[in-house]
Amino acid sequence: MAVRRIIRMGHPHLRQPAAAVDPTVLDTPEFARLLDDMYDTLHDYGGIGLAAPQIDVSLRLAIIELPGGPSRYGEIERIPLTVFVNPVLSVVDPAAAGYWEGCLSVPGLRGFVTRPQHVHVRYLDELGNEAEMTLQGFPATVVQHEFDHLDGRLYIDRIDDPTKLVFEDEFDRYVLPALQGSPTV
Ligand code: NI
Repeated sequence: MAVRRIIRMGHPHLRQPAAAVDPTVLDTPEFARLLDDMYDTLHDYGGIGLAAPQIDVSLRLAIIELPGGPSRYGEIERIPLTVFVNPVLSVVDPAAAGYWEGCLSVPGLRGFVTRPQHVHVRYLDELGNEAEMTLQGFPATVVQHEFDHLDGRLYIDRIDDPTKLVFEDEFDRYVLPALQGSPTV
């Protein structure tokens, strides 16, 4: 188990589409070690999601752990630590809402991104079982953010209003006071 280095915006590998995971590798010690390292890295950096390309592993693999709880948008549903292998996302309802997103690969910044708020995800779990999940609200934004990494996209690509890309310190000082309890990715 080890904390891996997260590569940052500007590293060309963050901009490459990742390769599908071969399901036959899921029961190998190497894959188990990769997952352990992803957990350790996510927890060490204090994020709620991590995609394999962020540790410079070009695979369609992401982990998400969203504590959930109350917010100004209502109660946010918890996502227990979940491993998404080869996820395929479809939009159930295109009605969109925006949140201030951040990213471990874009440290120090936050940006306001609007995304569909009702999505369905099909994926394999870490054991290779087919699984699916329907997400609404903030959790829908979280999975779209993480799965964008698998296509070489960053949240900053989706910011419609460039004035809504700010430093974290300024976010805390000028934006957050108006957003009491708002969730951030
Ligand atoms: Ni990210």
